[in-house]
Amino acid sequence: MLRVGLLGDGHINGVLRRAVEETRPYRVVGAFGRKDALPGTADVDVIVEAATQQAVRERVPGLLAGGVDVILLSVGALADPAMRAELLDSPIAGRGRLIVCTGAIGGLDQVRALRAAGPLRTVSIESRKLPASLVQPWMAEDLQAELRAGRTEVVLADGRAGEVAQRFPASANVAAALALAADAWDFATARIVADPAADPTRHEIHAAGDLGEVRAVVENAPSPERPRSSAVVAWAALRALDDYARLRGFPAVSGAAFL
Ligand SMILES: NC(=O)c1ccc[n+]([C@@H]2O[C@H](COP(=O)([O-])OP(=O)(O)OC[C@H]3O[C@@H](n4cnc5c(N)ncnc54)[C@H](O)[C@@H]3O)[C@@H](O)[C@H]2O)c1
Repeated sequence: MLRVGLLGDGHINGVLRRAVEETRPYRVVGAFGRKDALPGTADVDVIVEAATQQAVRERVPGLLAGGVDVILLSVGALADPAMRAELLDSPIAGRGRLIVCTGAIGGLDQVRALRAAGPLRTVSIESRKLPASLVQPWMAEDLQAELRAGRTEVVLADGRAGEVAQRFPASANVAAALALAADAWDFATARIVADPAADPTRHEIHAAGDLGEVRAVVENAPSPERPRSSAVVAWAALRALDDYARLRGFPAVSGAAFL
């Protein structure tokens, strides 16, 4: 039976844990918080990371070095080129695999197919979220107040996807996921708009290459328990676990793996 560990004991992994325990033939070994020691390959097959970018920097390299596979939700951590090199480059025998979860967006499969055929020309994402969900500690007081009041549309970021993912660590994982899928860290752009009408949250993706274009619009209902976060993300993690179980030959629910 597939043994699953959860790095981060917050909202996403809480929903994921209940879904696995109620509906899947996998065993949740435990949810590991900030102060907990992490398991190794003797106890776990895969760890789902849903913690923070900082937790990725501190803990994921050690997990991979110990041979544990990791499904990553805090994808914005990969906006840092050094972290990317450490986690994705130079495969070493016996090292765990890093699997990046699609999280809150779709269309990345086709973006990757276009990229496999050759470099892409243009890659962009625009995310529209309710203003109060976009308040960041580094923002000036008056901007924070404006966002909390939530009455006006404000463009909060419009630039390199990697930089935007680092400035909005809880809201722009999608920008990093797109830049990664498109292999376009140098030119992918992300725009974040605080929009009083953005319920549901809306992501608009555009990528163009020699063989075609992807234009994808994804609309996500906010999680009822955590309005800042999209409810679908925990289910994207469950989908990733299902495909992982199928591809590794563990008992899984019926259905096809999609890569
Ligand atoms: N890829 C995507 O599309 C996508 C979408 C939404 C959220 N996310 C990311 O998923 C992550 C989790 O989101 P959430 O809503 O569950 O957050 P959350 O705040 O509910 O939970 C995070 C948990 O991580 C724990 N944590 C912090 N540092 C840790 C460490 N060093 N080791 C272990 N645990 C640690 C915290 O105690 C907390 O319980 C965030 O980084 C968020 O940005 C990604």
